[in-house]
Amino acid sequence: MKKMLIAGNWKMNTNVVQSKKLCEDLLVGLTQMNSLKSKVLVCPPFTNIQIVSDTLKNSVILYGAQNCYYEPQGAFTGEISIPMLSHLGCTYIIIGHSERRAYFSETDEAINKKVIAILNSGITPIMCIGETLEERQSNSTFSVLERQLTIGLNNITPDKISDIVIAYEPVWAIGTGIAATTEQVHEAHTWIRNYLTEKFGQFGQSVILLYGGSLNSENADTLLKLDDVNGGLIGGASLKPDVFLSIIKTAESII
Ligand code: 13P
Repeated sequence: MKKMLIAGNWKMNTNVVQSKKLCEDLLVGLTQMNSLKSKVLVCPPFTNIQIVSDTLKNSVILYGAQNCYYEPQGAFTGEISIPMLSHLGCTYIIIGHSERRAYFSETDEAINKKVIAILNSGITPIMCIGETLEERQSNSTFSVLERQLTIGLNNITPDKISDIVIAYEPVWAIGTGIAATTEQVHEAHTWIRNYLTEKFGQFGQSVILLYGGSLNSENADTLLKLDDVNGGLIGGASLKPDVFLSIIKTAESII
């Protein structure tokens, strides 16, 4: 059976009330689907994790965070630690999102420290990688992916690699309404799978690979059907319950 993870990255959207409503709408929609085979995840802003946890209690929807700091506690004003997120019941943490790389100067080295600290806590890191338009146009897509994977996964042993989710998110497809084409996603995901298998052997085969970037109810079927695509990391469309539910339905029909 194909593994499928449909993850919503709510980014800096929703307040406490809106987060609660969004969860309630998703729960209503999901009761109409029986025995979910896909994993469904939502990643709200930090301030809304508690209400999301309360609202999703005993449900099939998982929740996680959009970032973290790698030190467990201390004088790091404004940061949120992994133990804090673990205490709230987060089971996934997104790291290395291109918005964090671009606007908050996150480096591959810092992302690697986060991957290791998250793994040590028993939470699943979702490590985002992807090239900018400029990098694609200058034919450096695969050297960028190689750098991001090599540094981001430094010191990860083969037995740990399948505890990490990798999200391929071409920067030019994020929030633009222009998703990567089937060929582009196929090419990138095959390349990533080969990289992982070369480096980690058979363990690389079982890593969950997500696609992100303008994924919606129209393109989900074609993209999620691709061999090395095990789900999506969804921004804008995850804020619309109907659209997010329809993507989940599509994933269910593919498994
Ligand atoms: P969009 O789905 O809004 O393009 O965002 C994708 C993304 O960045 C998910 O992390």
